[in-house]
Amino acid sequence: MSLQEQVAQMQAQSKDELEQLRIQFLGKKGEVTELFDEFRRLSKEQKAELGAAINALKNSTASRLQEMRDALEQQAVEEEKADLTRTPDPIELGSRHPLSLVKEEIIDIFARIGFTVEEGPEVEDDKHVFGMLNFAPEHPARDMQDTFFVEKEEGVQKPTDILLRTHTSSVQTRVMTSEKPPIRVLCPGRVYRNEAVSARAHCFFHQIEGLYIDKNVSFADLRQALLYFAKEMFGADTQIRLRPSYFPFTEPSAEMDISCNICGGKGCSFCKGTGWVEILGCGMVDPNVLESCGIDSKEYSGYAFGLGVERITNLKYRVKDLRLFSENDIRFLRQFEAC
Ligand code: PHE
Repeated sequence: MSLQEQVAQMQAQSKDELEQLRIQFLGKKGEVTELFDEFRRLSKEQKAELGAAINALKNSTASRLQEMRDALEQQAVEEEKADLTRTPDPIELGSRHPLSLVKEEIIDIFARIGFTVEEGPEVEDDKHVFGMLNFAPEHPARDMQDTFFVEKEEGVQKPTDILLRTHTSSVQTRVMTSEKPPIRVLCPGRVYRNEAVSARAHCFFHQIEGLYIDKNVSFADLRQALLYFAKEMFGADTQIRLRPSYFPFTEPSAEMDISCNICGGKGCSFCKGTGWVEILGCGMVDPNVLESCGIDSKEYSGYAFGLGVERITNLKYRVKDLRLFSENDIRFLRQFEAC
């Protein structure tokens, strides 16, 4: 086979084979290169006769090699294209925060009986957090012990009516003044109270408050809605009990316990041996609150309730230390990957 034919029939499956061919023909001792050595020894006439042919052979060898190189590179690109789903490094999936998981679950349960979600500002005024909610001017909840006031001027703390909301009832007052009954809303959000941080208390936490206002809303409606919630959240065997309590914005007011879902009501350290754990505050919206929000209390009545998301999360996932929720310890958060 002539050298020309050999060059024309070169085939390479890989870059290594290609390199072998380059060396074989165009390397220092390559077959085409050696022609040039011989060429130097030829007579003038022979040179004139063969020069063009040798050059043409060298060029066609080089371009054939280049062609094969391009083809191999193209093939590599195609292969990579076909394999784009391959991850060079495994991608780490994040997980939802337990408080978000529980918040979503609570919203989901109440959405099934017609509640929609409303949100409002965390930095609020006195009127929406206390004033319109029937707090007497000297009510202790307004005191600096509980409430973080926002300084209007640096170093001047009081008098100011701008504060961090201590409950999301403030969103309820906003909804009541801007919407007409029937109103059926859930107000989730972060709230702030001036408390020393410990395993059992924090200066901020999360609440979900509910409000239902319509004609003829009764305490029985409230109890039924809360019983439904407790069974959906903690299981069909869950029982509830309502204990009389006091909130300025509801009358009558109550606190609700559920049968301890850890010991099933037998008594354990979590429920301090009582078989019951408190999970929320509730009551019938005080007529004064309705009136201060522009709702006719003779025509309408309503119920409200408020629960702490951390508390429910503790019951569900047995988180013993409240601080874990805000420390962002990856070992804690990873435990909720499967939830
Ligand atoms: N706002 C109350 C709190 O933060 C909870 C509550 C809401 C109680 C609605 C009764 C009715 O403690």
